[in-house]
Amino acid sequence: MSATVNLLTVLFDCDVSYPGYITRQVISRSAIMAVIFGTLSLCILAFLVGFVIADGTVSCEKGWDWSPTFKQCLRVQDDKLNFADAEADCVKYGAKLVSLVSAFEEDDLINIINRHGHCDYYWLGATRPTIKDKFTWVDGKPFDYTHFGPKDYNNTLNCVDIRAASSNWHTEGCEKHNCFVCAKDDAATPSPTKYADCGEILEAGIKDSGVYTVTLGGDEFQVYCDMTTESGGWTVIQQRLNADLEFWNQNWQNYRNGFGVYGDQSNFWAGNELIHRLTTKNPKTILRIDLWGDRAPNSPHKDDYYWGEYIFSIGAESDDYPLNVQTWMQSPNDWDGTGNASSAWYDIIDSNGVKFSTVDHINDPMSKCVTDYHLGGWWLRYCTTATLNGEYVPLKYSDGYGFMWMVDGTYVINPVKSRMAVKKAWK
Ligand SMILES: *[C@@H]1O[C@H](CO)[C@@H](O)[C@H](O)[C@H]1NC(C)=O
Ligand SMILES: *[C@@H]1O[C@H](CO)[C@@H](O)[C@H](O)[C@H]1NC(C)=O
Repeated sequence: MSATVNLLTVLFDCDVSYPGYITRQVISRSAIMAVIFGTLSLCILAFLVGFVIADGTVSCEKGWDWSPTFKQCLRVQDDKLNFADAEADCVKYGAKLVSLVSAFEEDDLINIINRHGHCDYYWLGATRPTIKDKFTWVDGKPFDYTHFGPKDYNNTLNCVDIRAASSNWHTEGCEKHNCFVCAKDDAATPSPTKYADCGEILEAGIKDSGVYTVTLGGDEFQVYCDMTTESGGWTVIQQRLNADLEFWNQNWQNYRNGFGVYGDQSNFWAGNELIHRLTTKNPKTILRIDLWGDRAPNSPHKDDYYWGEYIFSIGAESDDYPLNVQTWMQSPNDWDGTGNASSAWYDIIDSNGVKFSTVDHINDPMSKCVTDYHLGGWWLRYCTTATLNGEYVPLKYSDGYGFMWMVDGTYVINPVKSRMAVKKAWK
């Protein structure tokens, strides 16, 4: 792979005029001829070898151009979209809006644009959330090189485009419709990209549910990703399917680090440290809860299914992983959008602001909620109206013991199965 890239670089650098420094030296004509001949034949050889190898290894998909300067595949899009839609269009191809970290890249980009494009302006992948922030590249490269033209930096605008004719950059309103260029790694290059959650893994084009590695706060964690429920990208933090693994008596250490086996057919808790980092890295995280069935004998809800969505985060271990939770409405008063597991006052909402408790670390002022009713590890304060980590076979059914959930503030179920999953809020 790198051999190919070097050969291609040689190929691009081959210029039939010999290097300037030779003319500054006193050399015999035959020596110059030898150098020219040598350079030429080297170039022809490099061209042939480079061509043959390139054909097999540098594999940009159709419609994408390999750039040895970017060491990426680039694609010029002559459709005009606003900034967010342009970036979304690139992401669809596993790419990002192009970034520029040097004048070499800029020259190469302008060449590629002039070869394929017809627009005056193209989006660059530079943006900032508000005028108080610094610009950053959407692909995470360092924002060190800039080339704003004179008077082209308007401090009230939050996106950046480049003018094909001058290669000057301008700040622009992000709603402007511009052509754009996407850039992505060559399909044969293993991507060193680190992901922070399953949403980012999905955005990178990986669509199978399964176990993946994420990096959060400099540490790597294994996670289980659900790539199908409600458009996918969910990091699953809890799953219970049966009584094979007991949750209520796991200690603080286990709740912190996680326990069980990741997979779609197993019981597990992903770990409070991971959940803390996952839910505090974005301004807003959604918790989705899915509940299947009720094991209480003669229950009218035996085969019912419930789901609910909340805004959710948990604090640091130094504060005993306190819970922050509230109802999540996708639009004002859209109660249907919040699911049918919640009444917005009982259930998990009841534990808002509460510290986590385990058998060996009880924060509940009424300790028998943990020791006798077997409701932990959970956010417990004088017990609770819902805990999905309680004892699988409760002391009593339908009555607030063990693994249970209060639906609609009216009746308690003891679910057969439960799942909790998180995702960055999309608004
Ligand atoms: C900057 O952009 C804003 C919004 O488009 C515009 O009203 C303002 O006149 C611009 N300022 C300058 C100095 O061009
Ligand atoms: C809750 O909502 C889901 C999907 O909207 C539906 O399939 C399910 O039957 C509902 N549950 C109850 C108990 O009404």
